[in-house]
Amino acid sequence: MKYLIIGGHGKVALLTSTILAGGGHDVTSIIRNPDHSDDVTETGATPVVLDVETAARDDLAGAFSGHDAIIWAAGAGGGSPARTRAVDLEAAKWSMDAAKDAGVSRYVMVSYLGSRLDHGVPESDPFYTYAEAKAKADEYLRGSGLDYTILGPGRLTLDEPTGKITAVEQGEQTTSTDTSRGNVAHAIAAALKSPASNGRTIGFVDGDTPIEDVFA
Ligand SMILES: NC(=O)c1ccc[n+]([C@@H]2O[C@H](COP(=O)([O-])OP(=O)(O)OC[C@H]3O[C@@H](n4cnc5c(N)ncnc54)[C@H](OP(=O)(O)O)[C@@H]3O)[C@@H](O)[C@H]2O)c1
Repeated sequence: MKYLIIGGHGKVALLTSTILAGGGHDVTSIIRNPDHSDDVTETGATPVVLDVETAARDDLAGAFSGHDAIIWAAGAGGGSPARTRAVDLEAAKWSMDAAKDAGVSRYVMVSYLGSRLDHGVPESDPFYTYAEAKAKADEYLRGSGLDYTILGPGRLTLDEPTGKITAVEQGEQTTSTDTSRGNVAHAIAAALKSPASNGRTIGFVDGDTPIEDVFA
């Protein structure tokens, strides 16, 4: 299969391209800094330099064309509210429109556990802009007509992946929300193989169920 990862030099993205390219797939990784090209190439993916914040929709669609699925793993990383809105909301929506223009129907979004329009985060909270942006981007994806899967990992860690997670229903409390980025990468790979995950939002944390079983 031919996969394209947006935000290809991110920590989740590099782990994902290693798994997908290692599995024999053809992976294109969109990065904004050409200095990151070698790191991406080392994972077996092909870097394409494109800033999704400023790229024209046609340029995005051109890069997406010919791929079987798009994976959104980019994020402003808690920058200014303006950049958070520009990347996590506007560029994400733009990429969904471009996916449709390019005829790529499968789209996997890395969101976060608890992303929803009624998130309840007060406007005075620094997390508010991110909560708004991710919830609105997820909602746009649900209404896009794309074959989407929205992944909602908890607090990301750099722990070694265990290959096991626990799915978390919306509003459900968990003792820990720690989620290994490696497990997220494996969840992305599992979602891409799982037609059953189309149209689903799957919250999860590190846990005790094999990832493949969660996505079966
Ligand atoms: N942190 C958490 O606990 C948590 C929890 C749940 C979900 N999440 C979500 O998971 C996502 C992935 O996490 P991560 O740890 O892999 O994040 P990360 O390492 O910060 O990666 C995000 C990537 O997005 C890229 N990016 C930003 N703006 C871009 C642009 N305009 N054009 C192209 N690429 C751009 C960044 O590029 P540069 O390398 O050039 O900056 C970076 O490589 C996060 O963005 C967040 O939305 C995070």
